[in-house]
Amino acid sequence: MGDKKTRIIAVANEKGGVGKTVTVINLAAALHQEGKTILVVDMDPQFNATRGLGVDVDDEMPTVYDLVKEKDSIKAAETIVPTRWEGLDLIPSHVDLAGAEVELVDEAGRENRLKEALESLSGEYDFILLDTPPSLSLLTVNVLAYAKEVIVPCQTHPYAYAALDELFDTIFAIKENINPDLKITGVVATLFDVRTRVSHSILEKLKNDDRYADFLFDTVIRVNTTIAESAGVGKPVIFFRQNCYGSFDYASLAEELLTRGSTSDF
Ligand SMILES: Nc1ncnc2c1ncn2[C@@H]1O[C@H](COP(=O)(O)OP(=O)(O)OP(=O)(O)O)[C@@H](O)[C@H]1O
Ligand SMILES: [Mg+2]
Repeated sequence: MGDKKTRIIAVANEKGGVGKTVTVINLAAALHQEGKTILVVDMDPQFNATRGLGVDVDDEMPTVYDLVKEKDSIKAAETIVPTRWEGLDLIPSHVDLAGAEVELVDEAGRENRLKEALESLSGEYDFILLDTPPSLSLLTVNVLAYAKEVIVPCQTHPYAYAALDELFDTIFAIKENINPDLKITGVVATLFDVRTRVSHSILEKLKNDDRYADFLFDTVIRVNTTIAESAGVGKPVIFFRQNCYGSFDYASLAEELLTRGSTSDF
């Protein structure tokens, strides 16, 4: 076991399309730029984080699916693949992961499968960042049972803002029932479109809402087409084009994360 003090951070929001995956891969890249070592764990059967880091999954490759399904026959270290960027590693996902949901249903301790599988990696990395699917599935519960911190991306859109309350309740319920160490490190406003009134209005609401104000990162992630473009070629935006909003914003988020511990209890 290594001697690093690993921060284990889930990026979670039950709502789809709010920027979870984009945040995972670009925060990982920005932390890498700061000289940190990072393991990304892709816990979403859509495997967008895996693709976004330029890793092609073939059927022979062990994935996080094997870890949660057959934890006794495979070790976490055997599922880690390097990316093109040294010090930024990945445990890939696979479409079969969707089936793990059903397969684990009757197994005792099923919510702690990922934790048991990854425990041996504590101390090996500065950060372990976990991407989650857009649902409160058993996969998401496994991530929240293992993580110590949660970052919540919130799209600057009325529906995403409205859903935040329920999400906080969910995280709190997991903290109470499964993982007392869990803390919300921050809420990050995403997909902020400077030209639209609705983006500004939701950002103001987040800033002025007692439930979320203390959690809100100062950094706001702006809409930037280069982000989608870079994901399309399997690269985090910082490794694709340094000089764009996406790179600036995620570098700024990484800096904030490094200075901010996990926020107070909630
Ligand atoms: N700041 C941004 N600027 C432009 N496009 C973005 C930005 N953030 C995310 N996107 C795009 O919006 C879409 C949704 O983002 P992303 O996949 O990160 O969301 P998600 O929450 O992971 O979705 P899902 O719930 O399906 O996993 C993607 O097509 C992504 O490329
Ligand atoms: Mg995603």
